[in-house]
Amino acid sequence: MDFPALIRWYLDSHRPLPWRETRDPYRIWLSEVILQQTRVAQGRDYYDRFVARFPTVADLASAPEDEVLKLWQGLGYYSRARNLHSAAQQVAALHGGVFPTEYAAVRALKGIGDYTAAAVVSFSADVPYAVVDGNVYRVLSRLFDLAAPIDTAAGKREFASLAKGLLDDYLLVPGHRGAGLYNQAIMELGALVCTPKSPKCGECPVAGNCLARKYGTIGGRPVKQGRTKQTPRWFHYLHITDERGRTVICRREGRDIWQGLYEFPLIETGSETEFGALPLPSFLSIYTLVGSVRMPKHVLSHRIIHAVFHRIAVPDLSALALPAEWLVVPSERLGDYAVARLTELYLTTENKNLQ
Ligand code: ADE
Repeated sequence: MDFPALIRWYLDSHRPLPWRETRDPYRIWLSEVILQQTRVAQGRDYYDRFVARFPTVADLASAPEDEVLKLWQGLGYYSRARNLHSAAQQVAALHGGVFPTEYAAVRALKGIGDYTAAAVVSFSADVPYAVVDGNVYRVLSRLFDLAAPIDTAAGKREFASLAKGLLDDYLLVPGHRGAGLYNQAIMELGALVCTPKSPKCGECPVAGNCLARKYGTIGGRPVKQGRTKQTPRWFHYLHITDERGRTVICRREGRDIWQGLYEFPLIETGSETEFGALPLPSFLSIYTLVGSVRMPKHVLSHRIIHAVFHRIAVPDLSALALPAEWLVVPSERLGDYAVARLTELYLTTENKNLQ
């Protein structure tokens, strides 16, 4: 990689921004938190107002929370503002009001993740941690024509390790300008040149190193896996009722969806299955299948549930040797139990049908 060309380009072409004129870790942190919420143009105004009102981290720590929230107004996602305030108080309590520049200490502050910690310690003190933000993912995925998805844990680890290796290589270049300047340079390249659409490859100082350019894959980098694949599951619920107006529910245990919620006894199958082929418990010997209600596909973040509720009538639930975890309850008390949305939808449909 042509590091000298990248650094020369940065020195000539970067945007002069107020947080680049300082090495105060507090101000750099402040700018990064603001820039997570907004673009540079609007971020500048917020940054200027925060710095004017809270010139030091001690000023921020001792301010009333209301005032911090008020200054934050318009940026949205108020938990960031509350974290900002809490982190300032942590700095006051744990570090005597001096904002740390040691990675672990910064990373331990409220609301600070890997990216922000690397940005703060490298920009303020050249501590050699590589920043990996959206700009850096884009630049590196193109330079190295990397197809690892940037939105999976494995992909992120790959990019983090590549970024760290590059920073280490840069720091071996004689006359290098430190980790902070290098990190800023690679981010700025992503912001100004290696843009998501129509990158300006003609202006790129490292276009000669760019494998995506060589292979014509720029439009396809970075790769995003997108929404995680939703695995299908087939749920058969047994809505068993008896002549005394009672029914049976169970509490979901174990590490699965809907932990702790109640539902009718469930038979899960590995594929689409007819009622007649279900492995019904042996104590259900005398019963009437009143009907089956097939629910519309129920989409969760990682699953698609194909659910059928089977309405089964038995004479007397007390006469059956039910498993200990099955709870016999009066049907009209079902509303007292927390159920997943799927069951709630079924119960609503069922009630409508009965009316
Ligand atoms: N976006 C996030 N951090 C930034 C920074 N330090 N300079 C410019 N844009 C940024």
